[in-house]
Amino acid sequence: MSTVIDEVMESPIAISISDLSKSFNENSHYVLENIDLTIKSGEFFILLGPSGCGKSTLLSMIAGFIEKTSGKLIVDREEVNKTGSNRGVVFQQADAALFPWLTVKENVEFGLKMKKTPKSNREEKSSYFIELVGLKGHEGKFPKELSGGMKQRVQLARVLANDPDILLMDEPFGALDAMTRRTMQKELIRIWKETNKTVIFVTHDIQEALLLGNRIGVMSVGPSSRITDIYDIPLPYPRMFTDKEFNLFYQNIQAHFD
Ligand SMILES: Nc1ncnc2c1ncn2[C@@H]1O[C@H](COP(=O)(O)OP(=O)(O)OP(=O)(O)O)[C@@H](O)[C@H]1O
Ligand SMILES: [Mg+2]
Repeated sequence: MSTVIDEVMESPIAISISDLSKSFNENSHYVLENIDLTIKSGEFFILLGPSGCGKSTLLSMIAGFIEKTSGKLIVDREEVNKTGSNRGVVFQQADAALFPWLTVKENVEFGLKMKKTPKSNREEKSSYFIELVGLKGHEGKFPKELSGGMKQRVQLARVLANDPDILLMDEPFGALDAMTRRTMQKELIRIWKETNKTVIFVTHDIQEALLLGNRIGVMSVGPSSRITDIYDIPLPYPRMFTDKEFNLFYQNIQAHFD
């Protein structure tokens, strides 16, 4: 039986990072030092590490929001020096990402409108992605009328509507209650399988990492944080906390932080 890992390992390289370092100013220490990482197209890659180790900094460099200090950072065979439509970012706080004066539908269509996508095409896409994230019937609502989980779904639909090859997700479910988070994790796996996107997902939660990722990159405590180990997780989806192998991975990864 072929696993997700077998399939993606045949895929082209989506992101190639070598010797990448970042310090925020000349006289300060390196936040990240000598990061090496190759991500294949279609992977669900987890960046796992303690608070302050530099996960968001690394994701922001991949997104093109902030500049690297040194090293190589290549996305789709091009050196990253700005943001690009091949990368879509989902932030931890949906409130900061959504426009409060726009409805669900208008928020989802925002990027398409900026790109001057014709109205009929825009509406077709927004209704498809609104349905995909489970928000059908809520199109006319404003963000303040939605729960935290629903707002996160709007953010996800908006990013998906722009059709990036790569989804960069920074602790997107961190602010949600445990039950909603679990639902969103399942939905995200379903969407990932349906759309074949490459996903880089940041979390400091080992259980979440193991529920979602086909590989998990473990980062060391900063400063000068690095990806110290990468775990292949060949378990089928949906994954179960109760599974014996799941627990073995959990213990092995937990040992990095004990
Ligand atoms: N704009 C900035 N200027 C200066 N230092 C920064 C800046 N952004 C982040 N840092 C520093 O870089 C380090 C890594 O921050 P980062 O936000 O990437 O961590 P993180 O792993 O995402 O943490 P968390 O899990 O809490 O979100 C921290 O020491 C932080 O203080
Ligand atoms: Mg962060």
